Amino acid sequence: SAQDAAAGEKVFAQCRACHQIGPNAKNAVGPILNGVIGRHSGIVEGYNYSPANKNSGLTWDEATFREYIKDPRAKVPGTKMVYAGLKDEQRINDLVAYLKSFDAS
Ligand code: HEM
Repeated sequence: SAQDAAAGEKVFAQCRACHQIGPNAKNAVGPILNGVIGRHSGIVEGYNYSPANKNSGLTWDEATFREYIKDPRAKVPGTKMVYAGLKDEQRINDLVAYLKSFDAS
């Protein structure tokens, strides 16, 4: 069903502990997520990735991102992202819409 960016902002509350997004975003526990849908993995300047993420070879297109966020440690074994995963398809739809609303910058 539809993707709802406003609902996705609420889902992003789970990510905000570690990630920033938006015009003033900075790297934090995790890298800046502006433009993340469609972005190659491991390329945010000034962020100290794990080798697992840095060398995963993945591009966060929508399909790959969806698999990742359901179970990050399954998709990127050795990732230092400590997040159990988001399983609910509608909530993932909404999260993707929210992430897409921020261009790379
Ligand atoms: C990495 C998304 C929650 C910490 C990443 C990456 C994505 C992502 C796409 C890879 C970025 C890249 O390759 O440039 C999300 C989303 C979340 C979430 C959408 C919420 C649903 C969290 C939480 C934490 C966290 C809660 C901290 C407890 C990290 C860290 C990395 C990372 C440390 C770097 C991983 C590494 O270098 O191995 N996240 N994340 N994330 N995230 Fe998250």
